[in-house]
Amino acid sequence: MITVDGAARSFGTLEALADVTLTVSDGEFVTLIGRSGCGKSTLLNMIAGLLPPTRGTITIDGTPVTSPRRDVAMVFQQPALLPWRSVEANVLLPAEIFGWNAAAEAAQLLEMTGLAEFRKRRPHELSGGMQQRVALCRALIQKPKVLLMDEPFSALDALTREELAVELQRIHLDLGTTIVFVTHSIQEAVLLADRVAVLSERPGRIREIVKIDIPRPRTFGYNAHLEAVASASARLHSLLH
Ligand SMILES: Nc1ncnc2c1ncn2[C@@H]1O[C@H](COP(=O)(O)OP(=O)(O)OP(=O)(O)O)[C@@H](O)[C@H]1O
Ligand SMILES: [Mg+2]
Repeated sequence: MITVDGAARSFGTLEALADVTLTVSDGEFVTLIGRSGCGKSTLLNMIAGLLPPTRGTITIDGTPVTSPRRDVAMVFQQPALLPWRSVEANVLLPAEIFGWNAAAEAAQLLEMTGLAEFRKRRPHELSGGMQQRVALCRALIQKPKVLLMDEPFSALDALTREELAVELQRIHLDLGTTIVFVTHSIQEAVLLADRVAVLSERPGRIREIVKIDIPRPRTFGYNAHLEAVASASARLHSLLH
C-alpha cells in the first residue's frame, strides 16, 4: 500500500504541490490527471524516492520512502533506451545492475509484449510504440510491486497509444501490480483506472477522486458500457475545466 500523507513540495518560492493525501491499495490502478504544471510528475517522483517532499510523508508498505526502492519501477514519457544495446540487453539492464540472472524472465516479458522476434535488434530499428514496450519490459524485469508511469504513451500516435493502454490493462490484470499512472487523456484514464485522482491547478491538491466502476477487461470503441464510460468522462472533463 502506498500512503501519501499531507505531502507538499516547493522549489524555492514556487509551490508545486500542496498538501496531497492519497492511499493506493495493493493491486490498485490509480490515474493522476490535472493541468500541465500542477505537480503530477513531482508527486510521482516523490513516490519513487527521487525527490523528497518538503512537508508530509510518503510510505510504501509502512516504510517511509527516502530513496528509490528495488520493488518500485518507473516508466517515463520517453523510453530512454541505451542505443548501443539490443532490445534484450536493454531489458536486462536492471537485472545486471542488481546482479540477478533474469534471462528467462526477459524472454518471457518480450514474448508477452510481442517483441520476441526483435530481441536482438537495436532501439533505433523499432517504432516508438515498440520502444515504449521495451521500456515497460525493463521496468517489469524488476518484478515491481509498484509501477509508476509518467505519461508513458503521450509521445505515441493515437492508435498505438490505445493499443498499449489495452495491453497495459492486460498486464495489470495478469500481474496484479499496483500502478500509479499520470496522463492528460481522459479516455486513457477511464480505460485504465480503478480511481482517477484529479489535481487542481498549481499548487496541486487533490480536487476529487473519481471511482471508475466499469467491469474489466475494458475496451475502446463499441462495448456494453458506453453509458458508464461517457458519464465518467464527462465528470472528469468538468473537473478539469
Ligand atoms: N526540479 C525542479 N526545479 C524547479 N522547479 C520545478 C522542478 N520540477 C518541477 N518544477 C516546477 O514545479 C511545477 C510542477 O511541475 P511538474 O513537472 O510536477 O508538473 P506536471 O503536472 O507533471 O506537468 P506536465 O503535465 O506538464 O508534465 C512546475 O511549475 C515546474 O516548473
Ligand atoms: Mg509531468
